[in-house]
Amino acid sequence: PIEPGAPAVSLDHLAQMFRQIDGEGASDTDAAELREIALGFRRLLMTYRFGLDEMMTKVTILREEFRHIHDYTPIEHIGSRMKSFESILAKANRRGIPLRPDAVRDSLTDIAGVRITCSFVTDIYRMRDLLIGQRDVTLLQEKDYIAEPKANGYKSLHLILSVPVYLSDRIEQVVVEVQLRTIAMDFWASLEHKIYYKYDREIPPHLTAALAAAATEAATLDATMQRIHSEVQELARDGDA
Ligand code: GTP
Ligand code: MG
Repeated sequence: PIEPGAPAVSLDHLAQMFRQIDGEGASDTDAAELREIALGFRRLLMTYRFGLDEMMTKVTILREEFRHIHDYTPIEHIGSRMKSFESILAKANRRGIPLRPDAVRDSLTDIAGVRITCSFVTDIYRMRDLLIGQRDVTLLQEKDYIAEPKANGYKSLHLILSVPVYLSDRIEQVVVEVQLRTIAMDFWASLEHKIYYKYDREIPPHLTAALAAAATEAATLDATMQRIHSEVQELARDGDA
């Protein structure tokens, strides 16, 4: 039986996926090994779920504490998702990674994902510094698509972090992908994502151009909002003094 909240990974399903991927039927002698692998994946996904929970706790604490101290939160929204087992297998297969728990753990960095939507660009870097500054958080990789946007206009700060998860017999370092963006960047990315899949990953040129222009407008809006926010904060400081 699958416990509530656990990823729906059935042995039958894994076996079916394996057969589909290899394009051949599995014989009975393969069954025991397949079962071992499937169980390994169950354990792996459970551990990632714990890592995701740890990271969510950290982000939530920062958000709540900020609200408490400053009467203001730099975080507008926090989202999280576990990559589905099917997506994990498909991605591993696409990349030629062996369909084994250890190989997948060592190769995929986006099994657990957290998305933090911030009010202002400065808040993104503030949250980044606060997370990376924590003693049990390790920064494995950073991609700053805000400083260097992608050609299509995509902006976000991507951090690949690891957090320790304390299991009964060992400590597991779990990798979590954290994406930080403003509301405007998120607005743009979600529309682009929809269009991307609507056109089966081939966005027509006129829409590509329109999206690039929209990304520039989003950045302008972010800059304007930031300026207004700073001005209000300065006024508030002067008022307090
Ligand atoms: P993949 O996860 O396979 O794409 O690996 P990668 O090495 O290209 O990682 P990258 O950090 O560039 O992107 C990881 C994630 O960021 C994606 O899964 C998306 O959630 C998001 N992302 C990256 N580029 C884009 C983009 O052009 N548009 C949108 N909407 N999202 C993007
Ligand atoms: Mg990508």
